[in-house]
Amino acid sequence: MRLYVNLDHVATVREARKTDEPDPVRAAVLAELGGAQAITVHLREDRRHISDRDVVLLLQTVRTGVNLELAVDEEILEFALEHRPMQATLVPERREEITTEGGLDLGDEKRREKVADVLERLGSAGIKTSLFIDPEEATIRASAELGADAIELHTGEYANASSPEAREEQLQRLRRAAKLGRGLGLAVHAGHGLTYENVTPVAAIPEIEELNIGHSIVGRAVLVGMERAVREMLELVRSARPVRE
Ligand code: PXP
Repeated sequence: MRLYVNLDHVATVREARKTDEPDPVRAAVLAELGGAQAITVHLREDRRHISDRDVVLLLQTVRTGVNLELAVDEEILEFALEHRPMQATLVPERREEITTEGGLDLGDEKRREKVADVLERLGSAGIKTSLFIDPEEATIRASAELGADAIELHTGEYANASSPEAREEQLQRLRRAAKLGRGLGLAVHAGHGLTYENVTPVAAIPEIEELNIGHSIVGRAVLVGMERAVREMLELVRSARPVRE
């Protein structure tokens, strides 16, 4: 199980004052020292946190790899093709949202054609591709048909479940989705809303090989430092015992 650390919210703090600190590039060095196996950033169309400069410098300085989250958008896609991160994760994006709200919609034919085209262009540039999707059978099957290398299962509904029963139901959903994805030959990732308190059952799903975690780690890093915050999350992830459906 790999832990990829999302540093968007280091940039969010910087942008709160439109200054040059804290710098996500410095945070990335510390995250890697804490054991992060890659750095994830979302270059949004409105550049509300991570900037082009951040991504360019991260690509030059990160020793592990950069997972770039991007919307299906020509301008950002061209940026990705020029700068070639290790991995690109396609996410839906709405300007008014506070954070990514749901998984990619692969429901209509036109959308699917567009996503297939983007996957093909990224793949031809040697970039590993991942689709951020809800843990639903039809979307997982569509992801495989479109030629993605990986899917990232949206764990938001699990994280937001309001009762232990609802949480268990969402966990079962994630387990089934992970199994299906792997069975279809996709690498299976997961993320969104994962915290020190709720990560263990997701980390215990054997088919999931990568977690993308941001807010909770950055929140703890404000208090205990980035290196320790990452190390503590990594310890939880590594100590999870595999649980099959
Ligand atoms: N995965 C994806 C695709 C995301 O868009 C985000 C949020 O940027 C995350 C993971 C991380 O979510 P969180 O910040 O809640 O850990």
